[in-house]
Amino acid sequence: MAVPPRIFYEPAELRAEIRQAQTSGKRVGLVPTMGALHQGHLSLVAESQKSCDLTVVTIFVNPTQFAPGEDFSKYPRTLDADLELLSEFDPVWVLVPPVDAMYPPRSTTEVKAPAIALPLEGAFRPIHFDGVATIVLKLFQVAPADAAFFGQKDYQQVRVIEDMVRDLLVPIEIVRCPIIREADGLAMSSRNRYLSPEEREIALNISRSLHETVGQIEKGATSAQVLRDRIDQSLRGAGISEIDYVSIACPRSLKSVETIEGDVVILVAAKVGNTRLIDNVLVTPPASC
Ligand code: PAJ
Repeated sequence: MAVPPRIFYEPAELRAEIRQAQTSGKRVGLVPTMGALHQGHLSLVAESQKSCDLTVVTIFVNPTQFAPGEDFSKYPRTLDADLELLSEFDPVWVLVPPVDAMYPPRSTTEVKAPAIALPLEGAFRPIHFDGVATIVLKLFQVAPADAAFFGQKDYQQVRVIEDMVRDLLVPIEIVRCPIIREADGLAMSSRNRYLSPEEREIALNISRSLHETVGQIEKGATSAQVLRDRIDQSLRGAGISEIDYVSIACPRSLKSVETIEGDVVILVAAKVGNTRLIDNVLVTPPASC
């Protein structure tokens, strides 16, 4: 039965209620989002509900993680539809804070993201992860949950959060959740709604090329260079010419590997039309003995 979620606009009120729920023995899960919710986000809520008595979803389009010229002002804001989707889950609380509740006037303190933020996305979006780390730490303060759920869709982001929590001794468990895809393989993303039908067809080549590469690794391919070049060529062949990176890397350090001997993550960032998309896949190569 659909139950409208309880909405908080005031962080201090949410924090007090969470503390009270925890005092009465409830385990609280947190799902930070920027809204424009889709099944990927809802899978995090569902995962939280498996192990937590109460799930808090935050909806906040965080200005500090967008550089000038990025899509902050046009980022989709669909609060009514988001609340409708969340009403399928019970009990869910939703925090929709105004900007100055999260960034009090005259505030100047920021989190410097850990070193894992530097390659890949960090090379193309230099301020992005400082903004993400800053807002996520603030969200952990206003919603002091027992566990927080993040999607592997933003692989480097979850690595940044894991390292930040370790480095800053934040008492919260970080749970990684798998990527949810459309039936044809496209990774779900709030930004997919920017794609025209033609661009969406082109965008499919990103997940397709990742999928093909997994097959090649599972059949024994070990040269990262050869596989990277193949992905690059197949994306260009499909009309995707603005490729920020194709990386085959260690899942922990995100350092590029040359020879695929153990688990790797393959990460791609590319622009289709004006829309920048990211996707990735984790692969385990066949045992060598
Ligand atoms: P947003 O892009 O709204 O994503 C919120 C959470 O949903 C992230 O943990 C993201 O990895 C997860 N997610 C998005 N698409 C997914 C998919 N297809 N499958 C599984 N999980 C998916 O990421 C952010 O917001 C922000 O940077 C935030 C962490 C909220 C800080 O502002």
